[in-house]
Amino acid sequence: MVNPKEQKSRKIAIWVIGLMVIVWTVLGVLSFVETENRKRPHTVNITFAGQNALTGKQVFQAYNCMDCHTIVGNGAYFAPDLTKIYEQTGPAWLLAYLGSPGAYPTEAVVNIQLNELIKNGEASVKGIGNLDDYYSEYPKAKERVDERGGVDALMPNLKFSKDEIDGLVAFLKYTSEINTAGWPPEVFAKQTVIDEAKKHLEAKSGLPVKTAVATASGDAGGDATAPSGEEVANAMGCMACHSTDGSVKIGPSWKKLYGEPVALSDGSSVTVDDEYLKNSILKPNDQIVKGFQPGLMPSYDGIVSEQDMDAIIEYIKSIK
Ligand code: HEC
Ligand code: HEC
Repeated sequence: MVNPKEQKSRKIAIWVIGLMVIVWTVLGVLSFVETENRKRPHTVNITFAGQNALTGKQVFQAYNCMDCHTIVGNGAYFAPDLTKIYEQTGPAWLLAYLGSPGAYPTEAVVNIQLNELIKNGEASVKGIGNLDDYYSEYPKAKERVDERGGVDALMPNLKFSKDEIDGLVAFLKYTSEINTAGWPPEVFAKQTVIDEAKKHLEAKSGLPVKTAVATASGDAGGDATAPSGEEVANAMGCMACHSTDGSVKIGPSWKKLYGEPVALSDGSSVTVDDEYLKNSILKPNDQIVKGFQPGLMPSYDGIVSEQDMDAIIEYIKSIK
């Protein structure tokens, strides 16, 4: 026989547990309800150029980006945080950067990517008609172009495919939409702090330390009215993907290219002449060089003038 006192406390315990179960269930259900300020983006709903953020996340994981970068609070501190990079720099800058991460993109390369997006009717650039519009939407893209365009980047060249790049952009678009309540805070360094750090590093290593400063490519020779092929190629961002010394970047090297046979991915072979070069620049996906990825080289149709085209061809011819 249970004494009445104990029976009473058992009853209370059962009520308390019952109440806790109810509260737990109600809170559990509420956590699935989306309110305006708790809206969560969904990976499969956010897309870019036909890729969704979920496949992009898999690319992000496959390349271990977090070994160097942080994202929503996780990762390593070797490289900048990427959570809001899409919101800051927009799709065209990201395409240009991820297309050749060995160097920071110049204005010409960002413009080419933007034109492709506009031409393809990509939804993320709706309402953006030209580079000025783009810069006012994404001022941090302009900042990067002005401060670092053409400067070597510390990030290794990971040689992504076109689909991987589009997937990464979709994923970074997704992370930009996450409400992080202002995190990460804006990074800024006072010039005096940078100068001080530079002095220390130089004293310690005995080597000059380069800080990122955009360099104008006006010193490659040639007269002011007609830029040389080398200048055109630099200004158009070709050299982010092509070398002249035989080394492979994103695309084939231009060393000893002219007059030589080139194996194509469809098993055929062509001899490099003016016509082939012209076609490679205007319609890069018509003939893909064996061992290289299609879709990476942007079309320069409508971007290079006839004069610039001739200059580039002469330049490629001259690289022995
Ligand atoms: C081995 C280290 C490393 C890995 C792995 C790496 N990165 Fe980077 N990344 C860097 C460094 C370092 C920088 C800064 C470059 C500089 O300042 O010169 C950078 C810069 C960037 C930037 C430009 C950031 C800005 O604020 O301008 C983007 C975007 C980026 N990385 C994306 C990625 C993505 C996406 C991946 C994975 C697919 C990745 N990175 C993998 C080291 C890495
Ligand atoms: C984002 C990287 C990228 C940029 C920028 C780029 N290319 Fe390419 N290029 C490639 C890739 C990748 C290939 C190989 C795939 C193919 O054949 O289209 C290639 C192929 C070529 C070829 C054929 C080479 C061969 O060995 O047969 C030529 C010529 C060429 N590019 C010229 C240019 C010129 C000129 C520019 C600038 C006006 C330029 N590229 C800008 C990536 C790039």
